[in-house]
Amino acid sequence: MSAHEKPLIAIAGATSKQGRSVAAALLQSQRFRVRAFTRKKDSPEALRLEKLGAEIVTVPLELGLRKDLVAAFKGADGAFLMTPPIAPPETIEAPLGQQLADAAVEAGVGHIVFSTLENVDKITGGTKYAPHFTDKARVAGHIRGLPISHSFVMLAFFYTNLLEYYVPRMEGDTLLLPIYLPEDFRAPFVDPLTATGPVVLEIFSNPERYNGKTLPIVGDIISPREMVETFQRATGLKAEYRNAFTRDGLLRYFPEFAANELLVREILGMVEYAVEYGYFGKEHDLEWSRGVKPDTLNWEQYLRKTGWRGDKQSFGF
Ligand SMILES: NC(=O)c1ccc[n+]([C@@H]2O[C@H](COP(=O)([O-])OP(=O)(O)OC[C@H]3O[C@@H](n4cnc5c(N)ncnc54)[C@H](OP(=O)(O)O)[C@@H]3O)[C@@H](O)[C@H]2O)c1
Repeated sequence: MSAHEKPLIAIAGATSKQGRSVAAALLQSQRFRVRAFTRKKDSPEALRLEKLGAEIVTVPLELGLRKDLVAAFKGADGAFLMTPPIAPPETIEAPLGQQLADAAVEAGVGHIVFSTLENVDKITGGTKYAPHFTDKARVAGHIRGLPISHSFVMLAFFYTNLLEYYVPRMEGDTLLLPIYLPEDFRAPFVDPLTATGPVVLEIFSNPERYNGKTLPIVGDIISPREMVETFQRATGLKAEYRNAFTRDGLLRYFPEFAANELLVREILGMVEYAVEYGYFGKEHDLEWSRGVKPDTLNWEQYLRKTGWRGDKQSFGF
């Protein structure tokens, strides 16, 4: 088979943690070609994707770019779509996701995979404010009505949140880990960088089997107490949990969030939703993704593989 007979998958948000995982898994399988959408063709991550064999296309994830997106999707057999982090009061996530899906349909893409989350507004009767969940669910609802074969993935909380956003700090000889969940609440977590790609590869390898399905991606189901105990065991460092799940706790450890009251409400709304209703709806099989990739990293394996010892890390943005 020549390289050009392989199905082509377009990835919107290709340099994101999810997107780069998808690109790498598809390319490494040697069964797919990849077209990577980015704002910056010459960013280190875009150059790395190009080196892996991806075709790089400059197209930002912004509203009003449907024509550019249709052109970018042309010729693709499949598309992986994600929406970037969008902080309130910005509210463009739902129309942005819908624009991506509409453009994929118009371009004649065969199957789309959208990275969604639960409809918190509907589940909680509007009592919890978590637009970055609900807006993705709205996009998923829109996609269900489109004339296109489709699947959804739903990622658990990212381990990387602790490296990027809720970073530990040293106090004396002890590393304090302020975590946005109650100490004994077990929540689903995952490494987006290694877990997303294998699942999306499985879907694009069997689009008919997964048409219409919503597939959670989970690496571990673990409480903050267990995360801290595991962290101590894996690193040999003395560490303690700190509460960052109440308004006071969150702002004590991350006072910079106070500049955006809506973002504070959104973080608290998301956490309260997860604790009171469960992060994933009960209908989902949380073991499925670990069946597809049995070596999906749990928290301990993640710590041992990455060697993370509590420092702040960024993933290139
Ligand atoms: N953190 C969690 O626990 C969690 C869990 C489940 C789902 N999610 C969802 O996952 C999504 C984020 O995924 P991720 O963490 O993989 O993304 P990420 O690593 O933060 O990357 C965002 C990507 O979006 C692209 N982008 C295009 N337009 C952008 C814009 N206007 N602003 C910012 N980025 C833009 C950037 O690529 P270029 O610079 O190359 O254009 C970048 O690669 C969010 O929607 C979030 O709600 C997060």
